[in-house]
Amino acid sequence: MHILSFLDLKDIINEVFESAAQLKAEARQGEFKELLKGRTLAMIFEKASTRTRVSFEVAMTQLGGHALYLSPKDMQLGRGETIADTARTLSRYVDAIMIRAYRHEDVVELARHASVPVINGLTDLEHPCQAASDFFTMREIKGTLNGVKLAYVGDGNNVCHSLLLGSALLGVNFVCATPRGYEPEPGIVQQAISLAQESGAKIEILNDPAEAVRGADFIYTDVWVSMGQENEAEQRMRAFRGYQVNSELLKHAPEAKVMHCLPAKRGYEITNEVIDGEASIVWEQAENRLHVQKAILVKLMG
Ligand code: CP
Ligand code: NVA
Repeated sequence: MHILSFLDLKDIINEVFESAAQLKAEARQGEFKELLKGRTLAMIFEKASTRTRVSFEVAMTQLGGHALYLSPKDMQLGRGETIADTARTLSRYVDAIMIRAYRHEDVVELARHASVPVINGLTDLEHPCQAASDFFTMREIKGTLNGVKLAYVGDGNNVCHSLLLGSALLGVNFVCATPRGYEPEPGIVQQAISLAQESGAKIEILNDPAEAVRGADFIYTDVWVSMGQENEAEQRMRAFRGYQVNSELLKHAPEAKVMHCLPAKRGYEITNEVIDGEASIVWEQAENRLHVQKAILVKLMG
C-alpha cells in the first residue's frame, strides 16, 4: 500500500486517527512500544524540511526502528541512476520509503517500481501526511469532523489539494478563497466534488476571503510562494495581497482557530499577531505530525 494522495488513506484514516490518539496518550505517559523494532524507513528529500524530516525520524526512533535521511545530491540518483532502479534497490534494504520531491510523477514512478510502501512527504501536487494530521488536530478540538467548516485562504497549492480531498472524504465543509488564477487544480476540485456527494461535505471555491471565513471553525493558510516557485515570487506577492490572515479577517469568524502547516512567512500570508495569538493552533498541528505519522507507519510496516 502506498500513500501518494490523501485518497490513498480512504480506508484507513479512521483507524489512523484512533491509533494516533492512543500513541499520543501513551507518549504523554512516557510509554513507547517498539512496534517497528528492526524496521527501517528510507527518507529521500529533494527539498528542505524541518517538520517532515524530524517527525518521521523521531517517529521511527520512538517505535524502535530506524530512519535513514537520503539526499539525492549524495545518491546515485543525482548522477543519473533512474528512479525505477533506485526504487528496486531500496526495496531490497528498507521496509518503506518516504519521499519529498518536486514532481508528483516522480513519486508515482518510485512507487510503481518499489516493492515496499512509498509515502508522499510533499510534492507539487499533494501533502497527504500534513492533511491527515491536520484533520486529526481538528477532530481533537471539535470532537468530530462531521459538519465542521474549514476555510482555506491563499494559494490553491499542494497543501490545499490534500485538505480539499480530505474534507470531501471526511465530510468536512471546505471553502477556499484564492486570487483568480491561483485556484486549486480543476481535476482535484472535480474529484472532491464527486466524493463530497457521498460524504455530504460542501465544497466551495471562492475568491473572497471574508466571505470564505464567515462561520468557519478553522481558518487555514500556507505560504504564497511554495518551494520551487521562487522565480514567481514577485508576481505572487502582488497577486496575494488581500489574502493575508490577519486580525481584520478574523473579525468575520470570531470563533475560528487558525491553522498553518508551517513554515510561515510572517508578515505575508499571516501576521505575527495572529500566528502568536489565542486562536492559533499551529504548534499543536506541528506536534500531531509525529503522532499521526507513527500511526501511519505502524499501519504500513507493523
Ligand atoms: N509542514 C511541513 O511539511 O514542514 P517542513 O517543510 O518543515 O517539513
Ligand atoms: N506549500 C508549501 C508547503 C511546505 C510544507 C511548499 O510546497 O513549499
